[in-house]
Amino acid sequence: MLLIKLPFLNKKTADQTNKQKLKQDNLPEHVAIIMDGNGRWAKRRGLPRFAGHKQGMDNVKNIVRIANKNKVKILTLYAFSTENWKRPKSEVDYLMKLPMEFLNTYLPEMIKENVRIQTIGDCNELPIHTRKSVQEAKERTSSNNGLILNIALNYGSRYEIIQAIKDVATDIKSDNLSIDEIDETLFNDYLYTKHLRDPDLLIRTSGEQRLSNFLLWQSAYTEFWFTDAYWPDFDESLFEKALSDYQQRKRRYGGI
Ligand code: FPP
Repeated sequence: MLLIKLPFLNKKTADQTNKQKLKQDNLPEHVAIIMDGNGRWAKRRGLPRFAGHKQGMDNVKNIVRIANKNKVKILTLYAFSTENWKRPKSEVDYLMKLPMEFLNTYLPEMIKENVRIQTIGDCNELPIHTRKSVQEAKERTSSNNGLILNIALNYGSRYEIIQAIKDVATDIKSDNLSIDEIDETLFNDYLYTKHLRDPDLLIRTSGEQRLSNFLLWQSAYTEFWFTDAYWPDFDESLFEKALSDYQQRKRRYGGI
């Protein structure tokens, strides 16, 4: 028999396979994303860095829609780290405006899609306009029971862990807790993420392959997925590729 390779047919088959796999029910419930590469996306186009952040912000809305479509329950996005304060003031100021801009533009759509907005990180250090718009979004979506859009704002995992240790120590000192009661479950309750399951899948865009102080405790058994695409270019097909690759993983949690 004559075997001829037809590349376009092969591609179609691969795409169909992806779609079939996504129909299975072992999709990740909690997806966390390090949205990296906004600056390089802009530079490649001869644009200022803030244009990359703006495009990245608009992409958040697309990714929320795709997460919702694929029955993801929690989407945690790393929007601003405790280390990002080191950036030039003009960039920090712009990044601090993005949550407000995002919510001004997309909150009605989020409400319509039954999305619940939450945050992790130390909101006390945020400028008042950022804090107010985030607080309002949390309140207006608090009774929604669809996808949780969990925005990590002024978040740093080491800071989170140190704060948790201080709170545990305070509770011991005031006789509200004994040392014998400390275990992983209890410690978990002192973290920003106490109400959330650990991430099943963590995605990082832009070719970098590190955690950058994101969810260090919570990602002990998380599956990682990396792509060279910059965050503004991270689209539906890449997201669904990440989800279908996740479905192929065997999670053993140290067992066999
Ligand atoms: C990292 O790319 C990205 C950030 C520090 C900001 C991410 C923020 C958004 C995508 C928008 C936030 C949206 C909401 C809803 C709050 P980089 O600037 O480090 O890129 P580079 O490594 O190419 O310079």
